[in-house]
Amino acid sequence: MATTTLTPRQRAVRSTVALKALMAITGLVMIGFLLMHMYGNLKAFLGAEVFDHYAHWLKTDLLYPLLPQGWFIWIFRFVLLACIAAHMYAAAVLTGRAHGARSTKYVTTDRIQETYAARTMRWGGVIIVGFLVFHLLQFTVQAVTPGFTPGTSPYEMVVLSFQQWWLVLAYAIWIVAVCMHVRHGVWSALTTLGANTSPGARRFLDGLAWVIAVVLFVGFMIMPVAVLLGWIN
Ligand code: HEM
Repeated sequence: MATTTLTPRQRAVRSTVALKALMAITGLVMIGFLLMHMYGNLKAFLGAEVFDHYAHWLKTDLLYPLLPQGWFIWIFRFVLLACIAAHMYAAAVLTGRAHGARSTKYVTTDRIQETYAARTMRWGGVIIVGFLVFHLLQFTVQAVTPGFTPGTSPYEMVVLSFQQWWLVLAYAIWIVAVCMHVRHGVWSALTTLGANTSPGARRFLDGLAWVIAVVLFVGFMIMPVAVLLGWIN
């Protein structure tokens, strides 16, 4: 059987392609989660009973009796955490390589744009994770509880929180950062996975990325704004 020995450069290129694929796949999984999370939040418009029932079902009964009660949420959390860790690891390694490879003095416009997009994505990612920690401390751990007391029902917790304008504003800034990241990320991921094959495909990907980002922004923000305006109480 013939064996092929790769040069160090070939190995580096292969591993860069693998890391980009890893970023693309984990990114798309997280976008899937965001779309589902957004859809679930909209149940607040259907009232306390529906929202609380949904929150309870997610945590205990989803996939039961296929899995024992309460297992799904932990499997799901593990997968999500693994995706976040892999996504950040790949981003850090690729950034290190890009910095290492920057040996030329001649910088083209393409290069400037690429560097700008990469920098925005990197810092955007850091801001998103930073606020995510606050978000989990607020709603999942209930260690930071602006407007509500720990242990109240999910519906009350959300409604009492978003009666504070500054929290709605903070969430709006966070969701803008998330949606900007998603817009570039969808385009980038589908390009990495080979979908950007023609000018038509490029236009389609661009449109799709914008639609997903706008749907996420409106879908996430409409509920906190409705609470603030007193439409949900
Ligand atoms: C206005 C926007 C949002 C609202 C109102 C909201 C609301 C909530 C609530 C109420 C929970 C707690 C569920 C529970 O434990 O009962 C939760 C959990 C969570 N949220 Fe959000 N969320 C929003 C946006 C986001 C965004 C943009 C992200 C990601 C970037 C996110 C990521 C998560 C994660 C990872 C969990 C933990 C799920 C778990 O393991 O229990 N959320 N969210």
